[in-house]
Amino acid sequence: MLQLKKIDVEIYEAIKQELERQRNSLEMIASENFPSIAVMEAQGSVMGNKYAEGYPGKRYYGGCQNVDVVESIAIERAKLLFHAEHANVQPHSGTQANMAVYFSVLNPGDTIMGMHLSHGGHLSHGHPMSFSGKYYKVIPINVTKNTQLINYTELRNLAKKYRPKLIVAGSSSYSRIIHWDKFREICDEINAYFLADIAHYAGLVAAGLYPSPVPYADFVTFTTHKTMRGPRGAIILSKKKYAPLIDKMMFPGIQGGPMMHTISAKAVALKESMSKSFQLYQAQVISNARTLADSLAKKGYKIVSGGTDCHMFLVDLRSQKMTGEQVKTILESANITVNKNSIPYDPQPPAITSGIRIGTPAITTRGMREQEMIKIADYIDKLISSKGEKKVVSYIKGKVKELLDKFSLYPTLKW
Ligand SMILES: Cc1ncc(COP(=O)(O)O)c(C=O)c1O
Repeated sequence: MLQLKKIDVEIYEAIKQELERQRNSLEMIASENFPSIAVMEAQGSVMGNKYAEGYPGKRYYGGCQNVDVVESIAIERAKLLFHAEHANVQPHSGTQANMAVYFSVLNPGDTIMGMHLSHGGHLSHGHPMSFSGKYYKVIPINVTKNTQLINYTELRNLAKKYRPKLIVAGSSSYSRIIHWDKFREICDEINAYFLADIAHYAGLVAAGLYPSPVPYADFVTFTTHKTMRGPRGAIILSKKKYAPLIDKMMFPGIQGGPMMHTISAKAVALKESMSKSFQLYQAQVISNARTLADSLAKKGYKIVSGGTDCHMFLVDLRSQKMTGEQVKTILESANITVNKNSIPYDPQPPAITSGIRIGTPAITTRGMREQEMIKIADYIDKLISSKGEKKVVSYIKGKVKELLDKFSLYPTLKW
């Protein structure tokens, strides 16, 4: 990194500081992870210099022989890994992947149904501030108040009443199994398209540890940087009959040149996800999330829906008489990073919230297991119970450092 240091010391320093921050904090934001050095090498490669509008074998620019190899491999690996008929590996982000699907089959003013933001949905599932809420009439799906689970009978009744043209299932914070087959049945009854957004669960699905929506959904979108542990970006899977629609909407519909460096890195991540060690990693992610949720529950914390079947869960902080914003800030002062998160039927506004979301993908990548989760639950509890008392924060900060020192992050990276 000598070149960067020489040419732009401000940016060099900020990146160096960010590496140190990542090394020195317990990273428990459910949507973050630490990709391999191989993924980052591909991401930082000369592939990013190449313009390649179009698709392999059908480009508008010369010199695409090498990027064609990479994109074709990425497509084949995505299809093989998820047993999908078609894959488009060009979306720059999960939001753009969802946009491509909506724009392929909907017209402005059409009705869609998706999980409400505070019930687990993503902004791109119809939030009024997102294009998805501005372009379409949105019928939000809420979880049931007492179980905090999706009620498929209510969902069917709602779908029959409003007859949306598309239903999007998938979530940023729903920690339970989503029954894709039931969504399919409901879509069939009202002749709606079915989009499954597995941005969060994709790595678990790839490892066979969370049900795959691929046999049921018309379209499946996922980000490559969460449980998939690849570069930032997304992929769209679909039935073959929708391939021309999706490909044309992705380019030239909503994006220009594909990011070939990112597509190279997606291909590497897809290869890594086919390994036995990836499967073991994902099993550990789930076991860690369950151990952490159970340990917190034993200390009197309320876990939304009572537990987790995946890599994350929400903690309802109302019985602690604290908000998500307060707890996020207290944990951060001891180098524990989580995000505040609305809980279903949250009395607090989204900028405050009554909950935090906790995820285990990144700390599991560092090598932590069940015994560390029990310790982390204890640290979180001590911090919250003390309401962020200085002495406690300083003590736990030391404990966090002790723990992190045993699980090095990117030991070969020298900045
Ligand atoms: C369910 C879901 N869909 C889509 C996205 C959007 O991904 P991106 O941030 O890459 O646009 C997210 C991101 O958190 C998500 O959780």
